[in-house]
Order: sequence, then C-alpha cells, then structure tokens
Amino acid sequence: MSPVISHKSGDLVTIDYMELITNIKEMQAFSYSAKRLGKSIAFVPTMGSLHDGHTSLLKKGRELGDMLVMSIFINPVQFGPGEDFTSYPKDIKRDLALADANKVDCIFNPAADEMYPEGFQTFIEIERLSSHLCGLSRPGHFRGVATVVMKLFNIVKPDIVIFGEKDFQQTAIIKRMIIDFNMDIDIVSMPIVREEDGLAMSSRNSYLNKEERMAARCLYTAITRGRDIFNKGVKDAAVILKEVKHIIESEPLSVTEYIKICDTDTLEDLDTIEDRALLALSVKIGKTRLIDNCILQVNQEANKRGF
Ligand code: PAJ
Repeated sequence: MSPVISHKSGDLVTIDYMELITNIKEMQAFSYSAKRLGKSIAFVPTMGSLHDGHTSLLKKGRELGDMLVMSIFINPVQFGPGEDFTSYPKDIKRDLALADANKVDCIFNPAADEMYPEGFQTFIEIERLSSHLCGLSRPGHFRGVATVVMKLFNIVKPDIVIFGEKDFQQTAIIKRMIIDFNMDIDIVSMPIVREEDGLAMSSRNSYLNKEERMAARCLYTAITRGRDIFNKGVKDAAVILKEVKHIIESEPLSVTEYIKICDTDTLEDLDTIEDRALLALSVKIGKTRLIDNCILQVNQEANKRGF
C-alpha cells in the first residue's frame, strides 16, 4: 500500500490497510491527498459481485497507478423499469476481501441518496454511440451509465481508468465522453475473461440455473463459429450472421435480442467487413440477459484478443 495523507486528519501517514469510503467529500479528500503527494490514481468502477473479469481490471490498475481505487455502486439510473435493479447480486463482504487481495487502496461504496440526492437532474447523453446494440433494447441505459461514470470521475479524480471489453459499447461510450468533455483521463480496456467453457464472466451468470447455464454456452459457440468463418475469408456480414443466428436459435432456451456485425468505432451495421469489425450479441437465456462479443480482424493475433 502507498503512503498518503490521511483524508480524515490531514496528517501524512502510511496506510497499510484498505480504505472504505461511503461519503463523496471524503472520497474527494482522499484523492486530493494522493495527488498532493504526486501519486497517480487508477480507477476501476464496478457494481460489485466481483469475479475474475473485475479482478483482471484491478490487476491492470495496480500495475498502472500509484493508488488503486475501485467503486462498488449499483447505479439505479442505468436500470430500466422491469430490469433487475432490486435483485442485482450483492456480496459486499466477499467483494471487500477480493479487493484487499488485489491490493486495492480504497473502495468507494456510496449509498444511492449520496449519489442522487433530492433535486438531482443533470444527465450525460452520448448520442449516436448509444443508439445501437444495447442502446436499442435498453433505452436510457447508457445515459444512466455515462452520468454515473462522469460523477464517479469527478469524485475519484482518476488519471487512468480501466474498463472491460465485455461491455464493448459501454467502453466505447466512455472513451467518447472522455474525448468530448476534454477529460484529462487515460482509458485502458481489457480483454473478456471467460469461464472454462467460454461463457463470458458476468455477475448476472449467478441468475442461471443448471440447465440455463448449460444453454448459455451457445453464445461462445456462436461467436467462435462466426470468427472461424471470418478467418476462412468470408467478408459478407450476412453470411456470418446467418451461421451465428442458427447456433443461437438451435438452443431452445435462448431468445435473441440482437446479433450484429458493426463498425468498431461507430457501432453502425456493416454489410461487408474490410479489416476489422465487431461481432456482438445479446441473448436471453430464460430471464437472464447475456451479452458477448468478439473482434473480427484480419490480423490473427489481434483477432484472438478476448479469447
Ligand atoms: P460491472 O458490470 O460491475 O462491470 C465493471 C467493469 O468490469 C466493466 O468495465 C466491465 O466491462 C468489466 N467486466 C465485466 N465482466 C467482465 C469480463 N468477463 N471480462 C472483463 N471485464 C469484465 O459495467 C458496470 O459494472 C457498470 O455499468 C459501471 C461501469 C460500473 C457503471 O455503473
């Protein structure tokens, strides 16, 4: 752990413990103290219920920043009506232990009314990037994500932030927000961490019963097949999509929300793949909505990223 000025007393102390902060002013004071000592802050925002995907981001953050801050906040404004806000998995004890094991210096874990007090009414909207993929099936979701991330950035004051490619569109939106608002923040994205059978790790995987968990393997099977067809030289998106859709639709428990091949920068649909594209899908297995993606790229090595 790094030495910082105690945010409580203002004294120069060495903290060899992890700070748990729930108050915005205290979090800001912690970050100002670290900055006064010339320490860079790496930041990993999460909604908790941590898994190896999250810890891969923490490991990267530990490597890149002098101080490592992680937030745990289940952000109400990014959930739509009828979504899983109230049932979202929580295990703060386990999360704290995992954070400590990954050498996190400070956890920011505010209550909802600390983040959204009476009178809150300002939102961030990233227009075009939010109008594709998950933005279509979850109206308002990315407005909620961008708003909370902007708030978290203003509270934690990070130099470096680490996001996962599992949520490719979310990461693209935050990258755009950083550029558009001239924020002095470096963003790093990390490959998808998967279970042994290929299922992308997600806090929501805990919703799946045994049968659904087996069925959920179809997502990875489908994108792997799509990538294989692409690697054989097929550039026609419709041909690849047909195969991918067939695999998903052959699974009786699945309901497709979207399966798309799109431009990795604009997220607009592509008919023909030139050098690089995103193959992204969202599929419901029972009541659980799962997303996955892979980059289709002519260069073999880059193509394997995330796998
Ligand atoms: P959450 O779903 O907890 O994810 C936190 C971060 O972990 C995101 O950057 C996400 O892309 C990354 N992540 C999740 N599963 C991963 C996997 N299997 N491999 C690699 N990285 C993975 O995303 C959110 O929370 C929220 O929307 C948040 C950004 C915190 C705003 O509320």
